Parts: sequence; C-alpha cells; structure tokens
Amino acid sequence: MKPEIRNYATFQAMSDAAAAYVLQIAENSVQERGHFTLALSGGTTPKSLYACLTSEPYVHAIPWKQTHIFWGDERYVPPNHPYSNFAMAAQVLLERIPIPAENIHRIPTEAASAEIAAVEYAETLHAVFHALGMLSEDQQFPRCDLVLLGMGADGHTASLFPGSPILEEKQRWVAAIPAPNIEPRVERITLILPVLNAARNLLFLVAGVEKQPIVQTIIEHPEQARRVYPAANIQPVNGNLTWFVT
Ligand code: 6PG
Repeated sequence: MKPEIRNYATFQAMSDAAAAYVLQIAENSVQERGHFTLALSGGTTPKSLYACLTSEPYVHAIPWKQTHIFWGDERYVPPNHPYSNFAMAAQVLLERIPIPAENIHRIPTEAASAEIAAVEYAETLHAVFHALGMLSEDQQFPRCDLVLLGMGADGHTASLFPGSPILEEKQRWVAAIPAPNIEPRVERITLILPVLNAARNLLFLVAGVEKQPIVQTIIEHPEQARRVYPAANIQPVNGNLTWFVT
C-alpha cells in the first residue's frame, strides 16, 4: 500500500493533526481489541504532539487506562538523563495523563550493557503482548497499533542508521547500536525493522526544510531510497504508513 503524505503549513498544525490521528487509532484499537499499543519516538519533533495529548480533548478522550506505551528506540543513558527519550516523554506527556504506571514499558537502560537492555526489552515486549492476548503462536513479531517515528537529516529512523548491519536483522526484536556519528553520540537500543513493519499503523512526523528532499526521494524513488535511507525501509507488512511533513 502506498504511503499517505500530509503536508502542513506550520509545525503546530502538524502536531494538532497528529494528536487527532493518535486519538482515532486509539479509539479504533480499543474498540477492536480492547487495548491500544503505542510506541513513542524520541528526538525533538514529537514533543509538541506529546504536549497536545495532555490537553483537552485528548487528555480525557484517549483511553489511557487501556493504552500501553513502548519506545521505538532509546539512548543508552539513565532514565533521568537529558538524552533519555523516556525522560522527555515522562516530563512532557506521561506525568500529565491518567495512564497507569504499569502500562508504561520503558527500555531498561539501567541494565549493565546496551546488549542486555535490548534482550530484556525483547522479553518485556513478549510478556506484555502475550499478557494482552496479542501474540498468537504463529506470530513472529509483536504488532503495535501505532508506531510514531521521526527521521534524521541522514534519513535514519528510530536508531536505525545508514549502513548499519542491524538493518538486515530479521530475528531479534530489539538490538543494541554502537554510538552513531551524530549527536547524541551514545549507544542506542532500537526495535528492528521487522518489528516496526509489523505495526498496524506507522506515523512519521518530519519537520524541517532540510529533510524534505529525503522525504521526496523516499516517496518518489522508494527502491533507490531504500539503499541509502533507513527510513525508506519502513514498509508495513499489513498496515498503514502515513507521513506528516512540515
Ligand atoms: C532518537 C529518535 C530519532 C529521531 C530522529 C529525528 O532517539 O533520536 O528516535 O530517530 O526521531 O533523530 O529527531 P528530531 O525529531 O529531533 O529531528
């Protein structure tokens, strides 16, 4: 299925539209399966969306008690570190919505290594999706209802960077990534492409004129883009891919 592209005149308009999109997916997911599994992205772009979700109507309209929060990737730093994607989401979103603490499944970066954190997070994903009755025997990967993604100016997404061998990973659900050559230069933990592509819905939020040529190439020349930009390899197996761009 071809991706849907929505262009917005302003960053705020994109964030407002993204909040409405999250609500729509949340309501549909809870209605159909009784839960809403949402994987957050890090970086700076989604902060405005997260702030929208803490205001009306979203703070009370989204079924937070049936919502389970995961992360698409994380920096290998303590959960209260300024680089932490969890710390950002906690400050901007999680501390301001009525979501049960047990529904927040962060990547355990207090583990002794990024590799151990990746193994432990894969175990968490397995346990939570199994407990929700959303991991059938024949399922190789967990299916999030919605995965939020950003894209770097090099075309990376989550912590899947250009040229990374992890782009070819087909087994482990979660992988440790060496410190990239872009800031923040710390080890990462990331969901692998097959887990991201198993999602029912994936939403890219991309802001900045410098990123638009990459988005254009990914949309217009996907085969060529796939070899250069990790974000071009986001192709849901049985789901919807939408790009919000401003
Ligand atoms: C991270 C993100 C990463 C981010 C892009 C875009 O951990 O940094 O998951 O993939 O989405 O780097 O970041 P900005 O939104 O800050 O441009």
